[in-house]
Amino acid sequence: MKKIAVLGYGVVGSGTVEVFYKNKASLEKKVGDELDIKYILEIRDCPDERYRDKFTKNFDDIVNDPEVYVVAEVIGGVKYSYGYVKSCLEAGKSVVTSNKELVASKGAELLEIARAHNVNFFFEASVGGGIPIIRPLNQCLSTDEIEEIAGILNGTTNFILTKMIKENMGFDEALKIAQELGYAERDPSADVEGHDTCRKICILASLAFGRHVYPDGVHTEGITKITLEDVKYCESMNSVIKLIGFAAKRGDNVAIMTCPAVINEESQLAGVNDVFNAILVRSDATGDVVFYGKGAGKLPTASAVVADITNALKTDHTSKTMSWKDSGQEFVIPFAKLSNRFYVRAEADRKTVESVFGEVRFLSRDGAPDSECAFVTGELNENDFAGKCRDLNVFGTLRVLDY
Ligand code: HSE
Repeated sequence: MKKIAVLGYGVVGSGTVEVFYKNKASLEKKVGDELDIKYILEIRDCPDERYRDKFTKNFDDIVNDPEVYVVAEVIGGVKYSYGYVKSCLEAGKSVVTSNKELVASKGAELLEIARAHNVNFFFEASVGGGIPIIRPLNQCLSTDEIEEIAGILNGTTNFILTKMIKENMGFDEALKIAQELGYAERDPSADVEGHDTCRKICILASLAFGRHVYPDGVHTEGITKITLEDVKYCESMNSVIKLIGFAAKRGDNVAIMTCPAVINEESQLAGVNDVFNAILVRSDATGDVVFYGKGAGKLPTASAVVADITNALKTDHTSKTMSWKDSGQEFVIPFAKLSNRFYVRAEADRKTVESVFGEVRFLSRDGAPDSECAFVTGELNENDFAGKCRDLNVFGTLRVLDY
């Protein structure tokens, strides 16, 4: 009999317990042993819960119990989870987690601790919810040189943007629905300000390029400034707005960013709507591969956690491939040196725009006031672009990406 502990009983934690017991018989067959959840760590009192006999408020019960083989950390954040995960690995227990903040900020260190104690630290659920991406990237595409990764990595913001684009719905109303459906983070600013996407692209970049990319060094913009006017202008050039995390290998360094971007409707990412996520991986031998599925929500995420539990139970040594080295900030190319094409909406006349930006493509929308002007620039370095924007009264800017 192999015993499991679950740290946290929120949306993903309760989903993990639900999926585990629903599929227990088939999981036991896969692992070749009897399985059970022995503990659920939760600080709230849950007297009416079906599994109340498993609840504990004391982490020591878990870390000191030699029967516990695998621990699933689904608390979120770093404050408590970092210490808990570290202690479990040091106690010789494999850990699986859905916690992207933890993996993005402490991944290199925790992978090293896991290796030192011959156990595993798995985190399939941390990126893309129920989409298998970590293991395919790490194993199936391991013979390829990965050149680039770009993804719609946040279900909440994709849900909001889809409502804005397809139903003309305002930002606040769409966010409220996403929260009610259990997609959003406890503090939804992590979703709408782009930090959640940033953490996920950092995890993918670290895995793909073998060195830790820390979120602090990555330029990050969210979707809070996008208006229905921007949506309409983009529509006029057969494009949609998506929050994209992208990372591309440039020699020994990585170009990486999170930003709302204009994507042509022909792109494989453009048709990804609602809570769905998609991750495009571009590699030298295989070319483009797109992973698609539900990127948030209780059961899709829980399914990935339970799959990791099963894998950890089947593996009695540290996976050799699931790792990356630590790195300094110099691995990331400074934001000011990156270049892109840009969409701009400003209060300006066409002559002034051309005198500042040179040749541009002007856009139109129904009902636009005479003073408003929207256009797409040629390729510009971020620094130069910011300088030119200072010469106009700019309402909003977006990057135009070719994925
Ligand atoms: N808040 C996240 C999202 C949950 O909306 O994608 C899944 O990581």
